[in-house]
Amino acid sequence: MDRIISAKANEQDVTTDKSLRPKQLGEYIGQEKVVENLKISLEAAKSRGDVLDHILLYGPPGLGKTTLANIIAAEMGVNIRITSGPAVERTGDMAAILTNLKKGDIIFIDEVHRLNRAIEEVLYPAMEDYALDIVIGKGPGARSVRLKIPPFTLIGATTRYSLLAPPLRDRFGSIYRLDFYSTDAIELILKRSAAILGVQMHDDGAIEIAKRARGTPRVANRLLKRVRDYAQVKADGIITLDVANEALSRLEVDKIGLDNIDHKVLKTIIEKYDGGPVGLETIAASISEDSDTVMDVYEPYLLQLGMLARTPRGRVATKTAYEHMGIEYKGDNPQIGLWQSQSE
Ligand SMILES: Nc1ncnc2c1ncn2[C@@H]1O[C@H](COP(=O)(O)OP(=O)(O)OP(=O)(O)O)[C@@H](O)[C@H]1O
Ligand SMILES: [Mg+2]
Repeated sequence: MDRIISAKANEQDVTTDKSLRPKQLGEYIGQEKVVENLKISLEAAKSRGDVLDHILLYGPPGLGKTTLANIIAAEMGVNIRITSGPAVERTGDMAAILTNLKKGDIIFIDEVHRLNRAIEEVLYPAMEDYALDIVIGKGPGARSVRLKIPPFTLIGATTRYSLLAPPLRDRFGSIYRLDFYSTDAIELILKRSAAILGVQMHDDGAIEIAKRARGTPRVANRLLKRVRDYAQVKADGIITLDVANEALSRLEVDKIGLDNIDHKVLKTIIEKYDGGPVGLETIAASISEDSDTVMDVYEPYLLQLGMLARTPRGRVATKTAYEHMGIEYKGDNPQIGLWQSQSE
């Protein structure tokens, strides 16, 4: 199902993402802590003439992991080879990538948690010793040969840190977690994108879109494009506060960026299950999705807003959720306080 506020990339996003993607670290808005630490690593590696340490980027979709990987390559002045966990099917594929690198090159593996076991095994000596162990021959005569490969940097990206095999996790020298962006940062991103797209936008129009963009640059850019279309057809092309409000309410994105499906999730928990706890599978079934999608795409923002809380027995709707849905709250759900501090 295509949701306007889904953080996951859809087909149109692929081109939008490319044209609006910042190319240098200086253009990368927000995520200050990550950027600051990264700057230090980049400078240190450059001044020593060293290869950059392996980097793991994790966080919900659409927050800028791929963007950051490309920026790192550009800043280091090296080639970047892009692939993804499910795309690497055989150990031979991985070996071919590794043997074709030049010193300092970057391999970017998206969805790195989905690499299969055998391929992870190839990566361990490669990451640690820049070596590739190949087995020559078959049966009793088979022997293992160790090949040297050029020093390289692996950048892994994942939306699911907890699914990453611990030995792989341990081989990343730096691990950066990307967080949802503040409304201020999203506003800046919107202004930058509007300038690139040649759209006129008032400050209050930008703020209104920013508030509904779920702290996610990809969603912000997608909303901007839809509001721009609306402004062209219904107004004189300028994104004012009114235009933004009208366009976004037509798209059925509410004041804090929730859509009908979020509302359905919250209502299900509140009305059908008396606030919860409700199992992930039940929530997924109520909106005809699989539970992985709920966990990756739907839930993180509701958790971030404090509308949902996780408990070992399932998800619980908080007071904030009742208030947002305009449903009377009948007192604290005893499950919340007990488990709220637990995260995945
Ligand atoms: N810090 C930023 N400043 C400006 N624009 C950004 C920033 N981060 C991301 N974007 C915009 O958001 C789009 C999506 O970012 P990106 O593709 O890097 O996300 P991602 O984390 O790799 O998502 P996924 O998990 O789906 O792969 C980019 O094309 C870019 O236009
Ligand atoms: Mg990506």
